[in-house]
Amino acid sequence: MASHVTNSIIGRYVLAIVIAMVVFLPNFTYAKKSKIIGLKMNVIDKCWRSDPEWRKHRPQLATCSIGYVGKMTNNIGEGLIHYKVTDPSDDPINPKYGTLRYGASVIQGKVWITFQRDMVIRLVRPLLISSFTTIDGRGVDIHIAHNACLMIFKATNIIIHGLRIHHCKPQAPGMVMGSNGKVMPLGQVDGDAIRLVTASKIWIDHNTLYNCQDGLLDVTRGSTDVTVSNNWFRFQDKVMLLGHDDGYIRDQNMKVTVVYNHFGPNCNQRMPRIRHGYAHVVNNMYLGWLQYAIGGSMEPSLKSEANLFIAPPSGSKEVTWRKGSRANGDKWEFHSVKDIFENGASFKTTKGGYVRKPNYTKDQAFNVADAKSVRSLISSSGALRCSKTSIC
Ligand SMILES: *[C@@H]1O[C@H](CO)[C@@H](O)[C@H](O)[C@H]1NC(C)=O
Repeated sequence: MASHVTNSIIGRYVLAIVIAMVVFLPNFTYAKKSKIIGLKMNVIDKCWRSDPEWRKHRPQLATCSIGYVGKMTNNIGEGLIHYKVTDPSDDPINPKYGTLRYGASVIQGKVWITFQRDMVIRLVRPLLISSFTTIDGRGVDIHIAHNACLMIFKATNIIIHGLRIHHCKPQAPGMVMGSNGKVMPLGQVDGDAIRLVTASKIWIDHNTLYNCQDGLLDVTRGSTDVTVSNNWFRFQDKVMLLGHDDGYIRDQNMKVTVVYNHFGPNCNQRMPRIRHGYAHVVNNMYLGWLQYAIGGSMEPSLKSEANLFIAPPSGSKEVTWRKGSRANGDKWEFHSVKDIFENGASFKTTKGGYVRKPNYTKDQAFNVADAKSVRSLISSSGALRCSKTSIC
């Protein structure tokens, strides 16, 4: 009897403690949550975001890339110029010191570009980014929007990180500061957020891309060794094109890694659409599509691995699309390995054949995560919001 009374008193104490915990829960769960997110950071983010002093060590980012781009160590070290954008204006022919165009096109060699404050940059003409340039939007809110956008033309070793690029419009032919610091004529340009033309070793990480008149990312004309990671693509008809035209045979050598990206909501097609070449599409989240998610033509080769495909509630549940065969056959190799399908999503794989491995070198290799953890691996995709005081 006595012990029964004691037990019920203890019971009441326990109840009181539980109530107290519920009352103070907001703080408690917040602390716990951030710890959990910290633990589930993907390998790229873990490499720099866990450093609370990342602002002092910005070039560390260059060592964090994975996939076909390899490590970006050519962008840092001896001779690196630190350049700060202080002026959001743009003059395409005679750019002023302090503008983005001066840092990205005029300055040659290794340059690490940061921004003094939040900015909306309305480019008058496409921005031609020169080799060994890093554009680092971490810690500020940078929009490249409402007119011309980014272009990499015959250049290599470029990092684009932490930008919001949207409402890009087509551009008529005209003169523009070239990536070699000399004014040159540039032909008609479609309204893409980022367009690569004969570019190599390009890393596109943690950008938010949406609502452009043509596509969000075009990788064309012999471009290769590209990694597209941690980006958030949304509100777009044509999202990502790998290989621009059927006749461009040099794109057979194209190799692209698409990893930790968040596609959707409201993306219609091309995530990506691939011609020729090889793409390793891995650990991405697809939040619906309208026509299809992944498509191709001209003997493309694609390994879809450990992605999460969530079909739209109605309409097409099929992930893939293939351009109709020609008389002599238009071959493709589309393989799905360890993908997860929700809401009735399906993936038509190529019958027979074999799954081509990416054959990554030591600098390119990374561990593929279980598709079950994709939701958390992509949870901070897009341009990050980094507070002044804590980790990014
Ligand atoms: C990886 O190597 C194998 C064996 O040499 C080859 O068949 C395959 O095509 C290679 N993968 C790529 C993406 O080139």
